[in-house]
Amino acid sequence: MTTSDSTDTHGAPGGKGPAGPGGGSGAPEGFPIDGASEASGGAAVDEESGPAPGEGAGNGADPGAPVGPTVVDPVAPGRGPAERLQVGPVMLGGIRRMVGVTLDGTEVRVPEGSTILDALHDQGSPAQADTPTLCWAPNMDPINACRVCVVEVEGARALAPSCARKCEDGMAVTTDSEKVRHSRRMVLELLASSVDMSQASTDVARWMGEYGVDAARYGPPAPPSAAGERDRRHAGHHDAPDGAVAATVGQPVKIDNDLYVRDYSRCIMCYKCVNACGTDAQFTFAISAAGRGFDARIATEYDVELPDSACVYCGNCIGVCPTGALKSVREHELREAEDWHPEEETVTTTVCSFCGVGCNLEMHVQQGSIVNVTSPADHSVTHGHLCIKGRFGFQHVQNLG
Ligand code: SF4
Ligand code: SF4
Ligand code: FES
Repeated sequence: MTTSDSTDTHGAPGGKGPAGPGGGSGAPEGFPIDGASEASGGAAVDEESGPAPGEGAGNGADPGAPVGPTVVDPVAPGRGPAERLQVGPVMLGGIRRMVGVTLDGTEVRVPEGSTILDALHDQGSPAQADTPTLCWAPNMDPINACRVCVVEVEGARALAPSCARKCEDGMAVTTDSEKVRHSRRMVLELLASSVDMSQASTDVARWMGEYGVDAARYGPPAPPSAAGERDRRHAGHHDAPDGAVAATVGQPVKIDNDLYVRDYSRCIMCYKCVNACGTDAQFTFAISAAGRGFDARIATEYDVELPDSACVYCGNCIGVCPTGALKSVREHELREAEDWHPEEETVTTTVCSFCGVGCNLEMHVQQGSIVNVTSPADHSVTHGHLCIKGRFGFQHVQNLG
């Protein structure tokens, strides 16, 4: 994985992107590079009639200023300007050894370094590729928090998280044993008994059905906590449960800014938002986990409100949240007004016009209005992450009549 410069000031995407155009020449220090691309600011030079090495530009600028290649090509000294301009970087991926693993009895070969989940996605059957995940995302490093993706690995005592465990040569994996199904059901059941999962993806609802989740067997949910009460809890200071109700993380929605809300009644503590705000994308570190055990929660530093925190409102935490705990104020208001219509939503991909980085934007439109903006996780520029302008700055293109 290649990480971007953490000092990126516009909250720009690219937490995982390779150094791209504009990201530096890549030439070793003190090593002469092609003057055409550097001295002319990258502008194209006419290969046939362009100035010879060392000649002036002839455009009113300093006639003595060098334009075009001014040094001998260290790789091929006999190569002229025309040939050199045709030579671009050759991007080669790393050479990776293949390893053989068995997925439910079927042998497959995958590149060394692949996770079991990679193998299931790339080489597994449709059922194997549908392995449930909550804390995993294709544009993030494995977090390994929820354990809903577990599989059996032959010879291992404990179940392994498929999203994080790397394939090894000769490894035998079982994905649908009773032990696996029981463990996945327990994870989903305990979450559903204590967290409002009603706005999680349709996949989550389907998995709950397929694994026979019965959250009601823990009893009716306890009433929600008062605003801020969970945030003031201290590790080890728990009230003994009376067994009559199921403990929950229910609490009022936090609305302290104009852009997004934090509805921690829906938080499963998957840590995705923390890592998106940190080393996976944004490098702002405005939020982190606080507390222990059932009292663990996502918090700003000293539990201050978002406007007083380090948050720069890039919304990358919203983009990765799997349960709807984090969402735009606009989506929250529409849902509260029972005017949220995902079944009618269209998604149009375009390019952000705020700057020249070239981020792809997906405009989510309901009833003629943009309701959310995301970016594709596989887009080479953003890797699914945006800045505040791309994420929230769409009002100027909204034709509201
Ligand atoms: S919007 Fe979310 S990811 Fe972005 S800086 Fe604020 S807390 Fe971090
Ligand atoms: S707020 Fe969302 S992304 Fe963050 S830990 Fe909770 S469920 Fe995960
Ligand atoms: S998806 Fe693998 S541990 Fe959460």
